[in-house]
Amino acid sequence: TKKGFIFDLDGVIVDTAKYHFLAWKKLANSVGVDFTEAQNEQLKGVSRKKSLEQILEWGDKSLSEEEFIELMVLKNDDYLSYVDKMDENEILPDVPKILNFLIEEGHPIALGSASKNARNILEKVNLLSYFNTIVDGNSVTKGKPNPEVFFKAAKALKVPPKDCIVFEDARAGIKAANLAGMISIGIGQKDVLHEANYVFNDFTEISIDFIKSLINN
Ligand code: G6P
Ligand code: MG
Repeated sequence: TKKGFIFDLDGVIVDTAKYHFLAWKKLANSVGVDFTEAQNEQLKGVSRKKSLEQILEWGDKSLSEEEFIELMVLKNDDYLSYVDKMDENEILPDVPKILNFLIEEGHPIALGSASKNARNILEKVNLLSYFNTIVDGNSVTKGKPNPEVFFKAAKALKVPPKDCIVFEDARAGIKAANLAGMISIGIGQKDVLHEANYVFNDFTEISIDFIKSLINN
């Protein structure tokens, strides 16, 4: 049967989590708030707005709406200064191998990301043409763990949710995939992503035979 494959972007296709971390840390520190790697982990898959709200909450800081918006702009400008320098070399290992296999086999591919910069980043790394549809932070109203992003992707691919397979590096994303009734594949650490149906450290651990077994299920 035809399966739909849905990929998260940040941390799955490219390692932009390190850039989000640098930009958030600089911003948090500029208003006198600490920001650690562990906190960054919790913000994976979380929208820009929700992330800033969370950082301010951790730092016990409140801002006017104006200041809040200003900080969101500053963070994104800083983040984009890293994104601007991205190219194909930043595609995570073996991602193209899997994408090419799926395309050869005729399975449609969607992006399902919380990022409003998703299209820009896919263009930078030359992967935009691999995707049949892009569902990103501009097209959803409810962030992960709400399954909206993945339901929209499935609908655009014309594949029922139960025949969709999601690759995710964020706990919130795994929860969203599970709530959507899809097969969830965690990319990252087993202890963080224990709710996923399968977990791999990265795509180099995922064999074509494993993908075939998902397709034939
Ligand atoms: C992804 C990342 C988050 C980021 C969010 C919004 O989910 O994992 O760290 O905050 O996208 O990204 P954006 O590019 O719109 O700021
Ligand atoms: Mg991610």
